[in-house]
Amino acid sequence: MTAGQYDRIYEGWARDPGAFWAQAAEAIGWERRWDRVVDEPKPHFFRWFPGARLNTCWNALDRHVDGGRADQPALIYDSPVTGTIRTYTYRELRDRVAKVAGMLVALGVKSGDRVVVYMPMVPEAAMAMLACARIGAVHSVVFGGFAPAELATRIDDAKPVAILCASCGIEPGRVVAYKPMLDEAIRLATHKPRACVVLQRPMAKADLQPGRDHDWDEAVDAAAPADPVPVLATDPLYILYTSGTTGQPKGVVRDNGGHAVALAWSMPNLYGIKPGDVWWTASDVGWVVGHSYIVYAPLLNGSTTILYEGKPVGTPDAGAFWRVIAQHKAVALFTAPTALRAVKREDPDAKLLAGYPIPRFRTLFLAGERADPDTVEWAGHHLKVPVIDHWWQTETGWPICANPVGTQLFPIKPGSCTKPMPGWDLRVLDAEGQEVRRGDIGALVAKLPLPPGALPTLWNADQRYVDSYLADFPGHYKTADAGFVDDDGYVHVMARTDDIINVAGHRLSTGGMEEVLASHRDVAECAVIGVHDPLKGQLPLGLVVLKAGVTKPNAEIVKELVALVRDRIGPVAAFKTAVVVDRLPKTRSGKILRGTMVKIADGGEYKVPPTIDDPAILAEIADALKDVGYAKG
Ligand code: COA
Ligand code: AMP
Repeated sequence: MTAGQYDRIYEGWARDPGAFWAQAAEAIGWERRWDRVVDEPKPHFFRWFPGARLNTCWNALDRHVDGGRADQPALIYDSPVTGTIRTYTYRELRDRVAKVAGMLVALGVKSGDRVVVYMPMVPEAAMAMLACARIGAVHSVVFGGFAPAELATRIDDAKPVAILCASCGIEPGRVVAYKPMLDEAIRLATHKPRACVVLQRPMAKADLQPGRDHDWDEAVDAAAPADPVPVLATDPLYILYTSGTTGQPKGVVRDNGGHAVALAWSMPNLYGIKPGDVWWTASDVGWVVGHSYIVYAPLLNGSTTILYEGKPVGTPDAGAFWRVIAQHKAVALFTAPTALRAVKREDPDAKLLAGYPIPRFRTLFLAGERADPDTVEWAGHHLKVPVIDHWWQTETGWPICANPVGTQLFPIKPGSCTKPMPGWDLRVLDAEGQEVRRGDIGALVAKLPLPPGALPTLWNADQRYVDSYLADFPGHYKTADAGFVDDDGYVHVMARTDDIINVAGHRLSTGGMEEVLASHRDVAECAVIGVHDPLKGQLPLGLVVLKAGVTKPNAEIVKELVALVRDRIGPVAAFKTAVVVDRLPKTRSGKILRGTMVKIADGGEYKVPPTIDDPAILAEIADALKDVGYAKG
């Protein structure tokens, strides 16, 4: 942690990226080493460590069992919603995962086959992922808050041989039965999996369909443990679907080799985490943060990971996070700013913290959405540790920018995610692809090749990969975030440049929600915008124009629209508000002025766009938004 260390490392990478990543790759055990560090078999498609062979699960588990960590806790399951705390040592986790892998083999799953995982935050979810990795199968975890229709879309795209699921998840105040949602998704999907394995939880047992469904415990008990199967570094480890600009999610592909190298590099160098440290990421295995920093990175690093089935508040109170840190002696927590805002709202002076001494706690990491300065300052003030905002995406798999506390802690500037990490040649470009002046806002892009760990392509959609990320700024990856670099070289990420919104750290497409609203029989036209919310950062808000002749009361239609989005996308969309308007503001060429409506809703100043068709509409929109509690500036 010495001054100048970051510059030395970053410059070393910039001088010779191949040497840098070859050195980082020494942290991983390889069955066969690479022919080249990186190559470009076709233009813009880069592959890391071609020719090398490894097994990610072996690196995450067996290697530590053999290397002296067999009796060290690997995973601590802490579930306030079920009143359970269970610890798995590296040996126990390796043995369980080997059995789950054996079960997959018995079901006919082979290397390269896809397996969908639709599970809440139970240790079996992590075991399922690692078991796939063990036999070279490709997992695709789907977040439990998504509705059957969304799950069906992912099943049709990934075409899994098997689906692993739990009978239910537990949300505050309700038990969410997963199995009926899975059954409905399979009914909706064209592709049918050969087998489903269901973890029966006592709070809601699921009905099993003979011939297709298997009981998890019985199937795992009956299975012979499976050994790790080496795969190519360039073979896919997983597909993780994320919101794109349409209702069709993007299947982000993660390879084995680059992923292992990048995550293994990040734990000591970026996060400052050592083997044996207890590390906690409070997220969900359904998101990239959960993939990388609940499951893979801490285990690759020989650390102990906490898997938490609970919320920041209400399970049972706003002291839950401090209790977990204290009880398990965690040295760091990684969560989304919204979780801290929830804590702050209930316990503004962090009084509950006094009940939980946390002397070993060193660092708080925040990501998933912009960390607002108030939250950063509040957390820093009460926890008295560095609060590190860092920026990344499902696509990148690990941080683009961070304050690399493991290498050098820079002075914290609330609102900034600090500096680019080695591997990321970050530029700020204007619409013509020219670099903007320092301090000016522009598109944040990364010069190709992307580093190990970042997506090599989209699942079965090379052209969509090019169109989505590479076409707008040739030679660069478009993050679709806008921001600027200040005079100290700090990066500030300010907003998305597309229709993605971030609701409680969850990434959602307003375009996808518009598709759902437009499918309602009474809706002629609609727009969904992301409006500011003090807790969740953003919330979706729908504006709809009804077809002529509709006589149904507006309130009834709004209720139907809210139910429709919940039914098609899921509760995670948090779509609760819509207003009926006579018309939507548009440019003369017919483009809906969503950005202007966001500014009106948030009560900020806005300019009447010179291209607007009829400026009078803006006052109508403001009135309609006032009726639902917005546009109060
Ligand atoms: N399965 C089923 N339903 C789920 C779910 C899951 N895994 N996760 C969330 N939901 C449901 C919730 O029950 C809620 O339903 P409701 O509309 O009936 O209340 C809805 O989806 C929205 O959930 P959420 O966004 O979590 O809001 P909340 O009001 O329940 O909780 C916070 C607010 C801030 C406490 C919560 O969002 C939180 O902990 N956020 C942290 C986010 C995070 O870790 N993000 C990962 C990126 S790092
Ligand atoms: P996801 O793919 O779900 O991880 O969402 C990625 C998006 O979340 C990014 O493109 C940003 O818009 C936003 N995001 C994530 N982390 C940050 C951060 N630290 N600061 C600002 N925005 C962030």
